[in-house]
Amino acid sequence: MVTRRSPERRGFAGNAVTGCMHLLVTGGNGFIGRRVCARAVREGHEVTGVSRSGRPEAGSWTEDVRWIAADVFDPGAWRDALSGVDCVVHSIGIIAERPQAGVTFERVNGDSAVLVALEAERAGVERFVYISSSTKPPLVREAYIEARRRAETAITDLEMDVVVPRFGPVYGPDQPHFPEIANQLFAVVGALGPLARVMGEDRPFAVGAASQAVYELAVADEVPSNPVTATELSALT
Ligand SMILES: NC(=O)c1ccc[n+]([C@@H]2O[C@H](COP(=O)([O-])OP(=O)(O)OC[C@H]3O[C@@H](n4cnc5c(N)ncnc54)[C@H](OP(=O)(O)O)[C@@H]3O)[C@@H](O)[C@H]2O)c1
Repeated sequence: MVTRRSPERRGFAGNAVTGCMHLLVTGGNGFIGRRVCARAVREGHEVTGVSRSGRPEAGSWTEDVRWIAADVFDPGAWRDALSGVDCVVHSIGIIAERPQAGVTFERVNGDSAVLVALEAERAGVERFVYISSSTKPPLVREAYIEARRRAETAITDLEMDVVVPRFGPVYGPDQPHFPEIANQLFAVVGALGPLARVMGEDRPFAVGAASQAVYELAVADEVPSNPVTATELSALT
């Protein structure tokens, strides 16, 4: 169990903020990240989203998020936004590589998390939630999961609360990674609780439940020890 240290919370302008936190979500416009952002602003928190394309077209709540259009591999473009942040949620990863463009599992699923975590630690961020994976998807290189595990190990002893939820497949509307037939299959399995539980740590999660669990891990005073298992994640939804 990790217990939150007492943060002195500060808003964008450096003013003390009572009763709310400042979350920075990398990949904040993505399938899971945007729902974490939406939930957080709904609860009254300050939220910054970082992604290359910036603000998504996802509803009026996006007006309440500060969007930074930046590549995480260019920290000079977004590091200033870490000032006053209580928790960073890292929600960047891929299932398909484009090696010619430098988009590899080693780099995106592994290195990006280490880079963002080091920046967060240096900025005095109190908690870092790294959305990781329970297993590698079928037909995908072993490097997918090796990069995850390498990053988990590399960030574990940093000077902040490091929280690592490991998810199996996450399904839902606009799911960008696997074919619609798989999305629907996961939805059926996920809706049948006992069947989903048979899949253990690799059980599918609805994106609403997954993002709620991530949100809870970002703001809760106490969180489970790492890795946060599917059973523990289910209990947060
Ligand atoms: N969905 C699942 O089934 C599942 C299961 C287990 C774990 N996960 C993990 O959960 C995390 C979030 O997944 P997701 O499904 O929400 O993925 P997603 O929809 O692809 O979102 C990732 C976001 O990251 C941003 N991004 C990518 N490269 C970036 C870069 N270099 N700099 C800044 N932003 C970058 C992208 O926005 P831009 O293109 O605008 O930059 C994208 O919106 C990932 O780590 C994923 O591997 C997902």
